[in-house]
Amino acid sequence: MNPVIKLENVSRTYQAGEVEVRALRQVGMEIAPGDFVALMGSSGSGKSTLMNILGCLDRPTEGRYFLNGVDVSELATEELADVRNQMLGFVFQNFNLFARTTAVENVELPLLYRHGPRMSARKQREKAFQALEMVGLADRAHHHPNQLSGGQQQRVAIARALVNEPQLLLADEPTGNLDSATSEELMTVFHSLNRGGITIVLVTHEFDVADHARRRLTLRDGQIIADEITEQETVDEEATQPVLELAGREIT
Ligand SMILES: Nc1ncnc2c1ncn2[C@@H]1O[C@H](COP(=O)(O)OP(=O)(O)O)[C@@H](O)[C@H]1O
Ligand SMILES: [Mg+2]
Repeated sequence: MNPVIKLENVSRTYQAGEVEVRALRQVGMEIAPGDFVALMGSSGSGKSTLMNILGCLDRPTEGRYFLNGVDVSELATEELADVRNQMLGFVFQNFNLFARTTAVENVELPLLYRHGPRMSARKQREKAFQALEMVGLADRAHHHPNQLSGGQQQRVAIARALVNEPQLLLADEPTGNLDSATSEELMTVFHSLNRGGITIVLVTHEFDVADHARRRLTLRDGQIIADEITEQETVDEEATQPVLELAGREIT
């Protein structure tokens, strides 16, 4: 199978005044469809820089990035925006929800930026609800973010990342602001989504969180220093079942 992600000698150098910061140094890697990768490394090792490149929010200074076989390092800014909207979903540490709109309205947002014919308002609402169901939060659809717990807010953010049915879900320290019990709950959501076929790359500092992934990549000083298969934790099948069924369901 062709890799979803293929990096060839990717470097990213920041120019900070007189100083050059080599945040990534000739990184090469491949990620297969359906993989679940935890990206680890100490602060400043280049994790966010790498995620920004994978997410087409930034471009390599050198090297090439193939996303589904397409060399995205060559694309123009607008083309990159389309790729982002159609193929990628993002989840961030601080949720990034709009405080003044409800959960379901937050989830609908990416549908407004979709290419092609505009979806009816009813269809948009339906899709947003389906995404909320996938993260087990349909019953909170009309709550505002401040009426939700941190874990629930992050689920809304995941639903928003899923609403355009991306192939690849990128999460930069999604559990960074959550307590460990809530982190565990959230990881069952990522598990279910991954079993539904979505490829996941997730940054974390915590081994507990990383152990949920199939593969662990470790960065140091802008280079991958380890690429390991993680020992899979036994998953409580029953606990993840409801979300799983929904994740496997076709959104039309
Ligand atoms: N916009 C920027 N300008 C200059 N240096 C940056 C910028 N972003 C990140 N860096 C530097 O690049 C290195 C990697 O940063 P980053 O990718 O954020 O690491 P991590 O996410 O692993 O903490 C660090 O030395 C950081 O200071
Ligand atoms: Mg970071």
